[in-house]
Amino acid sequence: MQAVILVGGEGTRLRPLTSTVPKPVVPLVDRPFIVHLLDWLRGHGIDDVVMSCGFLATSVRNVLGDGSHMGLNLRFVEEPEPRGTAGALKFAEPFLDERFLMLNGDVLTDLDLSAQIAQHERTGARATLALVPVSDPSGYGLVRLHEDHTVSEFVEKPPADEIDTNLISAGAYVLERSVLELIEPDRNVSIEREVWPALIGAGLYGFASEAYWLDIGTPERYLQGTFDILEGNVRTEVRERLGDGYLCVDAAARIDGRVIPPAVVERGAHVATGAHVGSLVVLADGVSVGEGTIVERSVVLQGAEIGANCLLRDCIVGAGVRIGDRTHVTGGAVLGEGVTIGADNVVARGARVFPGVDLPDGALRF
Ligand code: GDD
Ligand code: MG
Repeated sequence: MQAVILVGGEGTRLRPLTSTVPKPVVPLVDRPFIVHLLDWLRGHGIDDVVMSCGFLATSVRNVLGDGSHMGLNLRFVEEPEPRGTAGALKFAEPFLDERFLMLNGDVLTDLDLSAQIAQHERTGARATLALVPVSDPSGYGLVRLHEDHTVSEFVEKPPADEIDTNLISAGAYVLERSVLELIEPDRNVSIEREVWPALIGAGLYGFASEAYWLDIGTPERYLQGTFDILEGNVRTEVRERLGDGYLCVDAAARIDGRVIPPAVVERGAHVATGAHVGSLVVLADGVSVGEGTIVERSVVLQGAEIGANCLLRDCIVGAGVRIGDRTHVTGGAVLGEGVTIGADNVVARGARVFPGVDLPDGALRF
């Protein structure tokens, strides 16, 4: 079966991680984010994938290639300008089969697509939306259902006084090609605001699931997704790498300090004497952690160098970042690619430091 994945959004809420790398290829634990999604699709028999890329196609294509190394046939479609969620689908029309899946490219989930497809076939739906419960539906598409699984209402980004259910659209749809007839070509169209409402009473169904589901679009949720992968709360291929001990330390990493699971430490990483790494930590390729430094609940991307006696907690450190001795990075802080933070700084409380910043010793305190 075929799937089309929408990856054309700018990922602004994930900046500065997405300042230098498009959201689909931002690393999540040990592979580009979108590869987790492709692994999940392949597990449900999808082997043909159309990536609807908006304006970022080239760098996504450079990372993923033609998909053959993942057992997939990957094609890339680039809109002339962002066309919105339905406009992008319409633009991909020449590539699409009679029935296909459509996925938002920013969700981490293990929901049972095979069961969703089976329900779609059983009901004879034109569109079947996967639905998951969330505690606050306000940032999503709220869905009300009838007993026979038909959708009675779809409210995108509902105002507080309209929230009377916790079921939202998970961004995973089974569609019949005939849905494309509802989308006017060559203009910006939102599938959530224009197509789903038009399909109510005309073949729009919901498939409610209790599976793990997370929209990865903010730094807090990026960290949450990382932790959930490490803890095995969501089924991914990383789980096998971690094994029973919830620990994966590459044979070509050098550990002189301690690593506390769950954790992933990749090739060429170095944890110096007296340093504590974990739990819930990812050290990417070539990361070095100085003597006596503590790293907890954090992601440190490729080649970053952390000095001695630092504290990193609940933070994301971009590729190639350099951090001087005794510096603290905590409280959801995100350091963009290549940032330099001198010794004796405190970066905390959700601070986002953008690429190009070079902070001298002792410049920041909270
Ligand atoms: N090709 C292309 N072109 N892709 C786009 C465009 C576009 O113009 N606009 C958005 N996308 C992609 C984004 O990259 C993302 O993968 C997906 O479409 C959804 O866009 P978001 O901007 O992330 O939407 P959202 O998270 O606010 O809301 C959507 O997802 C929720 C679940 O996470 C809606 O579909 C909601 O109904 C849903 O609940
Ligand atoms: Mg989203």
